[in-house]
Amino acid sequence: MDWYFIFPTISTSFIVISAVLVAIGWGLAIRRRLDAHKKVMIAAAIAAIIFFIIYSSRTVIIGNTSWGGPDSLKPYYITFLIFHIVLATVAAVFGITTLVLGFKSKYAKHRKWGRITSIIWFFTAITGVAVYVLLYLMYPGGHMKPLIHAILGW
Ligand code: HEM
Repeated sequence: MDWYFIFPTISTSFIVISAVLVAIGWGLAIRRRLDAHKKVMIAAAIAAIIFFIIYSSRTVIIGNTSWGGPDSLKPYYITFLIFHIVLATVAAVFGITTLVLGFKSKYAKHRKWGRITSIIWFFTAITGVAVYVLLYLMYPGGHMKPLIHAILGW
């Protein structure tokens, strides 16, 4: 096992943990256990931030992994990957909005945004795991240079 495998495995686990916490937090909100809801959703946001820190630091320091599967599948993989990245970005913006609405006690809006945010987050996690399975378990590929090499001109 090398760092190229360990880092994505850890970061993907944090996406899954975060999505599970969102599901638990949603259940708590429905049962009106609002204090617990708040704590669990904050934990979900922290798990998402940990994912992002691990993901972005390994992109900069270690590098990414390129597609190792058949060329004929590559366009589908790239399309799917872009779909996942767009979902994750939208989920981040919606997540921050939902948290802010919660902290500002704008609960009617928070409720509407929260439902959409949670669903987008579930799809982000599912597509993230699918990318992980494709790239690291089914079709492990080559390694790309870390961003820091490009930055430092190595
Ligand atoms: C990104 C994090 C969060 C998400 C995804 C989220 C999601 C949700 C969802 C889906 C509901 C509606 C449940 C339903 O009736 O179906 C809800 C309700 C609620 N949330 Fe959150 N929540 C988050 C963070 C927070 C935080 C940080 C607070 C407090 C500061 C909070 C306070 C509340 C309250 C008070 C309600 C009940 C609103 C009402 O029914 O009028 N939430 N949340």
